[in-house]
Amino acid sequence: MQNQFEGKVALVTGAASGLGKATAIMFAARGAKVVVSDMSIEAGEQVVADINAKGGEAIFVACNVTKEEEVNALVSKTVAHFGRLDYGINNAGIGGLWTQTHKYPTDNFEQVMAVNSTGVFFCMRAEIQQMLAQGFGSIVNVSSVSGLVGFPNNLAYATSKHAVIGLTKTAALEYAKKGIRVNAVCPVFTITPLVEGMFEFIGDFKDKLEASIPMKRFGQPDEVAETIVWLSSDAASFITGHAMPIDGGMVAS
Ligand SMILES: NC(=O)c1ccc[n+]([C@@H]2O[C@H](COP(=O)([O-])OP(=O)(O)OC[C@H]3O[C@@H](n4cnc5c(N)ncnc54)[C@H](O)[C@@H]3O)[C@@H](O)[C@H]2O)c1
Repeated sequence: MQNQFEGKVALVTGAASGLGKATAIMFAARGAKVVVSDMSIEAGEQVVADINAKGGEAIFVACNVTKEEEVNALVSKTVAHFGRLDYGINNAGIGGLWTQTHKYPTDNFEQVMAVNSTGVFFCMRAEIQQMLAQGFGSIVNVSSVSGLVGFPNNLAYATSKHAVIGLTKTAALEYAKKGIRVNAVCPVFTITPLVEGMFEFIGDFKDKLEASIPMKRFGQPDEVAETIVWLSSDAASFITGHAMPIDGGMVAS
């Protein structure tokens, strides 16, 4: 596995923390050159330092995925530095407010959509332009089980993650004959800073959430990273347009 991605280049957004960080580290450990991107500069640079200290090859590029010009520059810098872009992992995301639809504030709805949906659109568009020029590429967008089923009291998040699946399926069909695969992953609650912050907010509801997962536990970042890395790889060469739950059986129940 160490040299699985030799000569390949992976770009991971939201890679300073949680699922993106675990994915960037896994790609690097398996031989890919990695662009670690995030708004959070210090934490992102630390991920790069950790990868490089273990013999991997990574650079940090700061990018706010809601800014079209920053996303375009992110892909340009990736290609300028490493010469190509094989894997685009569009992972940067935020949680939304916990409140019912009739009370949902417009500004938070727009902010969540801007990061979780429009950000993925900006990233995919720039990545696909490069992948078309190469005739090869694989994109994995990070949706959620909230992209597959409704999630009461979390309207903007669920809406934004459903949109990610629309983006994924449409692009998958458009580029199926061009050597570019586009898939999504749909994790259930996985222990990261985003979810730990949510647990503080919802208190006892945490136990109910855990009990609602057939495997009776939350996920771990490496379980999501493994799926993203596998979907990116040639081992998944006939899979495109898929939205894969990583959920301990939740969507099946
Ligand atoms: N952890 C879970 O349970 C879970 C479940 C389903 C889906 N997801 C999704 O997985 C992705 C990663 O979540 P996580 O749990 O690792 O969260 P996290 O908060 O640990 O990490 C998210 C990262 O995204 C970055 N980010 C936020 N807004 C950004 C922006 N505008 N531009 C660039 N970077 C930005 C943050 O700085 C942070 O480093 C998100 O899209 C999230 O919705 C997480």
